[in-house]
Amino acid sequence: MSQKLELRGKWTLVTGASSGLGVEIARSIARDHGGNVLVVARRRDRLEALCEELRSRHGVQAACITADLSRPEDVERVFTEATHERDIHAVVFNAGVTYWGEALKLGWSEFQAMLNTNVTSMVRLSTLFMSYLVERGTKGGLMLVSSMASIIPVPYQAAYSGTKAFVTSYGQALAQEVRHTGVSVTVFVPGGISTEMLDRTGLSNRFKAGELGMMTAEQASAHAVRAFIHRRELYVPGLLNQTLALAARMLPRGFLAQRTAALYRPEP
Ligand SMILES: NC(=O)c1ccc[n+]([C@@H]2O[C@H](COP(=O)([O-])OP(=O)(O)OC[C@H]3O[C@@H](n4cnc5c(N)ncnc54)[C@H](OP(=O)(O)O)[C@@H]3O)[C@@H](O)[C@H]2O)c1
Repeated sequence: MSQKLELRGKWTLVTGASSGLGVEIARSIARDHGGNVLVVARRRDRLEALCEELRSRHGVQAACITADLSRPEDVERVFTEATHERDIHAVVFNAGVTYWGEALKLGWSEFQAMLNTNVTSMVRLSTLFMSYLVERGTKGGLMLVSSMASIIPVPYQAAYSGTKAFVTSYGQALAQEVRHTGVSVTVFVPGGISTEMLDRTGLSNRFKAGELGMMTAEQASAHAVRAFIHRRELYVPGLLNQTLALAARMLPRGFLAQRTAALYRPEP
């Protein structure tokens, strides 16, 4: 796909834009590309503050939809509200949740909420938006935010790692299926990013900002938006992550899981 994704003056929907990577992706789209943004998450106050900031600082249009993407009815409503009297050109599926601990201790309802948020809502909305873009002949794009945990199995984040393996595999396969339509699918595969996600799980005590290839949300979003604009089908940001991704193709997965277990094993 040769033509770059043009976001200027067009609407991009960004999920999970109340904190971390999603906020910075929305900011970059507005500030660096003059794009309008429609942001989605549960915390309305944060979404409204971000919209106000983007309108006043960058002169773009910005709006929000409050939704819990672990709830199927909210997922359907996001599509209906987003496309009501508004032309959506691009969508970034960034919302995600994780946990840190033994798989056997992960509560069933916590697992189901994670599966719904990370996987089910993304499949539902990506198929709805892909059909919408193709029917309208819009040469837009979708970006799915995955993780290095999709490439290397991560013990003590086993189920999260599984959800992200789904995202990468699904996104790469979908990209091939829709290539002829002119709508691009980008799978973004970051390693550690210093965000609330790490604070919430306690992982920020293990992986400190600036160490082990950890990125700030600003750094990660710059990579993500560039990959999106250039319609990259799979993008791993940063030299360390790229080296690990290459090594993951050559080394046995069992060995990788064993090494990763040592990094992630919680204190007894
Ligand atoms: N941080 C990392 O080290 C890292 C590494 C690789 C990949 N990633 C991926 O990057 C993405 C962004 O993560 P982050 O690090 O920026 O985390 P974050 O700061 O915790 O942000 C997560 C975002 O997802 C939203 N979200 C979570 N559950 C939701 C739900 N049920 N419904 C609607 N929105 C929901 C949150 O908003 P509300 O709480 O307001 O709903 C928030 O805006 C995720 O997909 C994550 O898996 C992160």
